[in-house]
Amino acid sequence: MSSVPSAGIGKITVPGILQRKSGISPENPSPAKITCLTAYDYPTARLLDEAGVDVLLVGDSLAMVVLGHESTLPVTLEEMLHHTRAVRRGTHHALLVADMPFGSYHGDPAEAVRNAVRFVKEAGAEAVKVEGGERRMDIITRLVEAEIPVMGHIGLTPQSVNAFGGFRVQGKTEEAGEQLLRDARAVEAAGAFSIVLESIPRELAAKITAELRIPTIGIGAGPDCDGQVLVINDLLGLGFGHQPKFVRRYANLGEIISRAAAEYCRDVQQGTFPSEEESYHLPGEHRDAPVVRRR
Ligand code: KIV
Repeated sequence: MSSVPSAGIGKITVPGILQRKSGISPENPSPAKITCLTAYDYPTARLLDEAGVDVLLVGDSLAMVVLGHESTLPVTLEEMLHHTRAVRRGTHHALLVADMPFGSYHGDPAEAVRNAVRFVKEAGAEAVKVEGGERRMDIITRLVEAEIPVMGHIGLTPQSVNAFGGFRVQGKTEEAGEQLLRDARAVEAAGAFSIVLESIPRELAAKITAELRIPTIGIGAGPDCDGQVLVINDLLGLGFGHQPKFVRRYANLGEIISRAAAEYCRDVQQGTFPSEEESYHLPGEHRDAPVVRRR
């Protein structure tokens, strides 16, 4: 069982995230934007938490960027729980949100609530994220009634890849934009505390952000959202596939890892690793005893 650090100074909480938007006043017209990144393991969570990221999301992008699947659809509830537990151990200040994987909230609502409870109870998540708008109103309401804070997610929802026929920018026509506006209103009305807007035109994201009382967190939705989220592997240059144009790469760890591994192989092959200093020794008189090789 994983425990959530108690809310102390600097701990980001669900009310604190809501406050970022509701606290807008003439004295404080532009509160700090919400920063969110995905994390899938303990060391990354620790580094991001210590760097001051507000929200760590154990995204089901895990399926693609860590587990090597073609889409987010195959990742299982057990896999998501396993990675959420690891992220929990490294997270002390950020709000920890876990993505509910495809199939874990699409059928019986009671089962969806049971699955979400597992994220909170067994993995230490403080909130869950579900994809979809109007058609998720019922499940979002049920989760909120069960005291589980919910982050919504609309636009290019990757779990809809088969329904969309690929990963495409959403909301480009007037009709599609109107539907996304209705979806955003529905997610808010159902009680979500924030909503991810993914791959939609900037103008539409700005309109949704201006209308909603809950914070919007954009990814490929322009700069007018109340916060931003990126997949950590994209930001660090640890990805292999096509990078959408909204990704800004802040480091190229892929290149650093490849170079380090190649240097290691060279040192082992040339006999320069390990060195004398990197070796243990027998005490005193045995130290220089010749090593007899067994044949
Ligand atoms: O799974 C994920 O990483 C996400 C973010 C892109 C919002 O849902």
